[in-house]
Amino acid sequence: MDTQVHALLNDQINKELYSAYLYMSFADYYDEVGLAGYANWYMIQAAEERDHALVIRNYLRANGQHITLDAIDAPDKTFNAYIDPLKAGLEHERYVTSLINAIYAAADRDHDYRTLKFLDWFITEQGEEEENAEDMVKQMELFGGDAKSLYDLDQSYAARAYSQAAPLVQKA
Ligand SMILES: [Fe+2]
Ligand SMILES: [Fe+2]
Repeated sequence: MDTQVHALLNDQINKELYSAYLYMSFADYYDEVGLAGYANWYMIQAAEERDHALVIRNYLRANGQHITLDAIDAPDKTFNAYIDPLKAGLEHERYVTSLINAIYAAADRDHDYRTLKFLDWFITEQGEEEENAEDMVKQMELFGGDAKSLYDLDQSYAARAYSQAAPLVQKA
């Protein structure tokens, strides 16, 4: 594997684990303010991000590549309104999309077709992540100002259940 592609994939493990950490901090905020549904949604999101790290880890190992686990940055955001984590989440997912695209571009330059195929799942996943994050912002903008509607929104996020990322299920 090309050294740059390897370095970017290795770094993406760290970025996905940071995403898990970030979303856990969102869950903690919502738990503190009493929105248990949003807290549930972000704890599941954190589990999904850890799955993403494992998917990349498995891919590197399956290709005989060494893995370096670096320190994970502390999430440092403070929130003043219910919508703040949702906006931060959307911004973060757009950033992650740019990281995945950069790995894709590096693999493309190297004619690393196996890695391009591997990254396909992440390209699709990022589209879904951005769409979900946008919906959450819009729903809070529309309904968050009214206590009853906010209660209903929170209930809807309480219903989210964890399911393992598809590439990990296929591996099992
Ligand atoms: Fe992710
Ligand atoms: Fe994500």
